[in-house]
Amino acid sequence: MKIISSISEMQSLSGSLRLKEKKIAVVPTMGSLHEGHLSLIRIAKQNADIVIATIFVNPVQFSPNEDFNKYPRNIERDIALIQKENADVVFTPSLEEIYPKNFETYVTTEKSSTVLEGKFRPTHFKGVTTIVAKLFNITKPHVAIFGQKDAQQVFIIQKMIRDLNFDIHIVVAPIVREHDGLAMSSRNVYLNVQERNDATVVFQSLQYAEQLITNGEFNTFSIKNAMKKMISSKRTVTEIDYISIANAETLDELDMILLNSKTLISLAVRLENTRLIDNIVIGN
Ligand code: PAJ
Repeated sequence: MKIISSISEMQSLSGSLRLKEKKIAVVPTMGSLHEGHLSLIRIAKQNADIVIATIFVNPVQFSPNEDFNKYPRNIERDIALIQKENADVVFTPSLEEIYPKNFETYVTTEKSSTVLEGKFRPTHFKGVTTIVAKLFNITKPHVAIFGQKDAQQVFIIQKMIRDLNFDIHIVVAPIVREHDGLAMSSRNVYLNVQERNDATVVFQSLQYAEQLITNGEFNTFSIKNAMKKMISSKRTVTEIDYISIANAETLDELDMILLNSKTLISLAVRLENTRLIDNIVIGN
């Protein structure tokens, strides 16, 4: 497995692989890898000849009051895990090479980055689309794998690909969960024992919503209220940033569940200092 940190070296390797008609898949990550990330690498292996995993903690997608400095980093462990999955390349650029002095060009989706997560993290998706566009230009993939865990991120990247005509196919990987349902996340390491126990309510509330809908409750206001009540019963839940029930194709909020279209139920919850997100998609 090749470990590359230089942008020009990565670009020329991908360029020569393309000349040899190799199909390239990229799996962008911020490291601190868990089974969720590794599942993306496995899916990449099934979709391409060459798999490139990237590790870069992207400061531009964190706002000044967020956890960029304390974000967990463990590059040696990450590289060993990626090697075990038989990926071909790990691309780990330096901060200085990705954002040199005088960097000033950003990619941003105008509307979709202002709803849901965007309301609470106003500059987040501008950072995501910018780094993902850069990683696409550096690794030149035919396919890119992203996790459904970050549903709005997938939505926005697909929008960017369409709007800017990137010739890249996106594969969306299902959410990998712990045994008790908690969605795997690099941020789960922040949770203490009590918070970790309480965190199971995040997925439980999504399952509860699905159950209510199965039982015929289509009023989204009632469903959200029931979820809120369930989540607030946990002592370490300090804030529910949002609970959203939206059309999965547009992210527009729904008043009523429409059974013949896809509905995205998503939420963000704070347990003391840790912010967790999760979602499910129901319907066709
Ligand atoms: P990161 O949070 O490291 O996630 C990297 C990829 O792993 C994303 O596509 C994310 O959706 C996926 N992922 C995370 N947890 C998952 C889980 N439990 N099950 C399935 N997939 C999961 O997302 C980012 O990094 C960054 O925003 C990035 C796209 C790399 C741009 O900086």
